[in-house]
Amino acid sequence: MEYAPSDLSQRERYKVLTSFVLPRPIAWVTSLGPNGVVNAAPFSFFNVFCEDPPLCMFAVNRRPGGQEKDTLANIRRTSEFVVNLADEPLTRAMHESSGDFPPEIGEPDHLGLKLAPSSKIAVPRLADTPWAMECKTWKTMEVNGDRVLIMGEGVNFYIRDELWDRDAMRVHMDRYHPMGRMFADRYCRTDDRVVFPAAEGVKTI
Ligand SMILES: Cc1cc2nc3c(=O)[nH]c(=O)nc-3n(C[C@H](O)[C@H](O)[C@H](O)COP(=O)(O)O)c2cc1C
Repeated sequence: MEYAPSDLSQRERYKVLTSFVLPRPIAWVTSLGPNGVVNAAPFSFFNVFCEDPPLCMFAVNRRPGGQEKDTLANIRRTSEFVVNLADEPLTRAMHESSGDFPPEIGEPDHLGLKLAPSSKIAVPRLADTPWAMECKTWKTMEVNGDRVLIMGEGVNFYIRDELWDRDAMRVHMDRYHPMGRMFADRYCRTDDRVVFPAAEGVKTI
């Protein structure tokens, strides 16, 4: 099967992309609303791309009626956000936080999720997240008027203590259970792991 993008509707292109490029990591983004409401929403058109400076990017599309999502409106106003990751115990709440809540309802408050202050920015992180990166907007790119790519520069990292071997600078993989997004409302666990010997001439980190 082959398609040119022009053969497909926008919805069909979305399906062709997201049915195969998976599992995708999920940025669970907290941002600050105009009246101090803390907003949280998941975004799986997301990844990190660079460590110097630490850059991440995620894509926010408009709602079907053309309305801007709260996350985007908040980041446009404050230029700050936190990328929190969800491990297995948090995944259900992460999924539920994608509901269509009005701006005055903060998803963490609504879902009973604890918050913790960030160190370098005003937006709090989720207290129980295994990992979070406090970000300032590095660049935004408008795509066809219905989507914005937001690039964030990480200005502070948080790692839950029990997950990190400080001396080796390594994650305790047996204690870290991230989930990936498959498609629609399907997710996957990442506990079935495979290790290969280092490729020729490559030093493992
Ligand atoms: C796992 C998951 C991944 C999602 N990824 C995206 C995404 O990459 N881009 C997007 O615009 N919406 C995505 N959504 C939908 C948003 O989370 C949803 O529209 C949310 O209500 C936005 O909230 P906000 O208005 O508080 O920003 C995703 C939803 C789920 C459950």
